[in-house]
Amino acid sequence: MTIEQTASRDAARKPDLRPANPRFSSGPCAKPPTFDLTKLAGAALGRSHRAAVGKDKLKAAIEGTREVLGIPAGYKIGIVPASDTGAVEMALWSLLGERKVEMLAWESFGAGWVTDVVKQLKIEAEIKTADYGQIVDLATVDFANDVVFTWNGTTSGVRVPNGNWIADDRQGLTICDATSAAFAMDLPWDKLDVTTFSWQKVLGGEAAHGMLILSPRAVERLESYTPAWPLPKIFRLTKGGKLIDGIFTGATINTPSMLAVEDYLFALDWARSVGGLQGLIARADANAGAVHGFCAQNDWIANLAADDATQSNTSVCLKFTDARIQDGAVFAKAVAKRLEAESIALDIGAYRDAPAGLRIWCGGTVETSDIEAMLPWLAWAFEAEIAAQTVAA
Ligand SMILES: Cc1ncc(COP(=O)(O)O)c(C=O)c1O
Repeated sequence: MTIEQTASRDAARKPDLRPANPRFSSGPCAKPPTFDLTKLAGAALGRSHRAAVGKDKLKAAIEGTREVLGIPAGYKIGIVPASDTGAVEMALWSLLGERKVEMLAWESFGAGWVTDVVKQLKIEAEIKTADYGQIVDLATVDFANDVVFTWNGTTSGVRVPNGNWIADDRQGLTICDATSAAFAMDLPWDKLDVTTFSWQKVLGGEAAHGMLILSPRAVERLESYTPAWPLPKIFRLTKGGKLIDGIFTGATINTPSMLAVEDYLFALDWARSVGGLQGLIARADANAGAVHGFCAQNDWIANLAADDATQSNTSVCLKFTDARIQDGAVFAKAVAKRLEAESIALDIGAYRDAPAGLRIWCGGTVETSDIEAMLPWLAWAFEAEIAAQTVAA
C-alpha cells in the first residue's frame, strides 16, 4: 500500500465520537437543548386565545421578545399568521406603493420578495441582486426609497455585515426579513422600520406564526397611506386609518396555536438562561467559528460567502472545492446522504435553488460540542465519496 493509500484509508475510518444531537436543519431548527414535550404541559389548550389565560400568554410572548431582543418601547410587536412569509408579505402589501422601492436580494428568499413586489404588486422598483456567495453594493442604496432586504440570506449564508450602511435620516422605510438573524445577530433597531422573523428559526420554536416589528415611522406610514390594492383580512393592520392596536398586545387577527405559543415561551426562557441575546450570539459565533476553523484546515471545502465580513453565523453554507470531484451536485448530495444514514447530520444538503454544497445550521440551539463531533465525520464522508467515485469510474 502506498503512503497516500494508507492516509486515505485512515481518513476513511469512522470517527469514534458522535454528535449527541444530529439536527443541523436550517428550519425548523433544533429545539433548545433542554427541550422535551413535558415542558409544554402548561399550555392553555382547549381554551380561547381571547380568554385572559390565552391573552396573557400571547402578551408574554410579545413582551418576552421585546426583552430578549432589546426592542425599544416605542416599537410595536405583533404575532401574525403564516410564519415569516406571512409577516413579510403583510408588510409589503400594507406599506409599499407610497414611493419607489429598492429591492436587495442575494439568495432565494430575497428573490421571492422581488417577485412579490414586481410581479404581484407591480410596483416601480430598482432591483439589486448578487449571486449566491456575494452581496450587493450596499453603498449604492438610496434611502429616499423604501428598501426591502434580508438580513441573513439563509440559502447562501451571506448576511449584511452590520447596519452602518442604512441612513439615519432616511425618507423611505427599511423592511427587513430577519428570520435567520433575530436571536443570533445584533439588529440595530433604530435602522429597521419593519423587521420580521418566525419562531421556527434561531430559537427552535414551531412554524406557522410570524413576528412583525414596526418602528414609529412604519406605524405613521400605515396610518397615513392606503394602498391602491385590496387587502385580505389576514393582512389588515389598520381600521379607519388607525393601527389596530390589539394585534400588538396579543389580540391576534385569527386563532393562534396555544401549543406553539407555549413552546415559544419556553424557548424565550431558555434564551434568558444562556445569557439572553449576547449569550445566543456567542453560541452561534462559537458554532460558526468551529465550521470556519474546519474549512481553514481542509483545502477541499470552503465557505460559500466570499467575503469574511458577510459570512453568516447561523446558516453556514459550504462548497466542495476538490478538483477530483466529477459532479458537484451528485457529490454534495451523496455526502449529505451518507451523514444522514449514519445519523450524524440531518438536513444539511444545500437549499434546492442554491449552488451544490452543504448548509450547517449554527444558531444558538445547536451545541458547539455537536458541531465539533460532526466535523470529523464530514471529513470521513468526503473521503468515502471520493473513494466511491474512483471505484465507480
Ligand atoms: C430568509 C428567509 N425568509 C423567509 C423564510 C420563510 O420562512 P417561513 O417558512 O417561516 O415563512 C425563510 C425560511 O427558511 C428564510 O430563511
